[in-house]
Amino acid sequence: MAREFSTVGVVGLGTMGAGIAEVLARTGVQVVAVEVDDAGIERGRGHIEHSTSRALAKGKLDEAGRDELLSRVTYSTSLKDLAGADLVIEAIPESLELKARVFAELDTIVGPDAILASNTSSLSITEISVHTGRPGKVVGLHFFNPAPVLKLTEVVKTVVTEPDVVTDVVAFAERLGKEPVVMGDRAGFIANALLFGYLNHAVSMFETKYATREDLDAAMRYGCGYPMGPLALLDLIGLDTAYEILETMYAQSRNRLHAPAPILKQMITAGQLGRKTGKGFYTYD
Ligand code: CAA
Repeated sequence: MAREFSTVGVVGLGTMGAGIAEVLARTGVQVVAVEVDDAGIERGRGHIEHSTSRALAKGKLDEAGRDELLSRVTYSTSLKDLAGADLVIEAIPESLELKARVFAELDTIVGPDAILASNTSSLSITEISVHTGRPGKVVGLHFFNPAPVLKLTEVVKTVVTEPDVVTDVVAFAERLGKEPVVMGDRAGFIANALLFGYLNHAVSMFETKYATREDLDAAMRYGCGYPMGPLALLDLIGLDTAYEILETMYAQSRNRLHAPAPILKQMITAGQLGRKTGKGFYTYD
């Protein structure tokens, strides 16, 4: 029998954390959502309210269902409020130092059987896990953006992750309506390892003026049936996040495909991070 996870913590309420909290609450799970300060909480709450309003407008949720969903999420600025969680999913910025600190602290707060998961897209789960006294109960649980829509979750096991932990997390992901896939701890896991060489190549084509952004994106949408072209997708992911993922993969693989195209760094320095700053390869209202 797979383990029940009735209370789940989410640490970090950026785009991914808020989306994950929404997915959990939609499935009937009690969520304790933690951010560093009140402004972070308000931003996260805003994400969830906006996304569920959209579902309401589209008739995918009714008023009562939305209220119930929202009432399942409680907010806090203290990790100590995660003491009763069976599973905690961390979705803070991609810094090993920050994650190590959060995992070490969580380890002292949650019960001995609780599972600690990271939504990291590029950092090593093994390196995160050794900052706890329970590396066997640490996994990667990587959602895709937008989390409420995309079905994939990557479940990343390290050499010491307990097999039961993997089985339970896979069963839980299925309960959330996701399609879990399981893999070892390698930079990029499966999807990003395949995706980011392609995205980076598209940036190089744009940078060398080989084709316009519109034509690059149209080629992949209309020629390959992708829902978005590569440059529009990079704007959705965030150029800063994309750059971090490419750098980590390049450091590990030394595959030239993953050496970040120089223009990415320039756009990041200029504050053009994609949708979240209103400008990336495209401009947003
Ligand atoms: N939150 C909740 N629901 C959302 C949403 C969001 N942020 N964005 C879109 N939706 C819903 C819409 O409400 C709509 O629902 P219905 O079909 O039930 O009406 C559905 O998704 C489709 O949305 P739209 O009609 O607005 O637009 P679309 O058909 O162009 O789809 C998209 C938008 C879902 C983003 C689609 O273009 C897509 O799947 N793009 C590719 C995204 C992708 O590849 N993501 C992976 C990035 S890599 C990653 O995340 C890993 C990493 O580590 C960085």
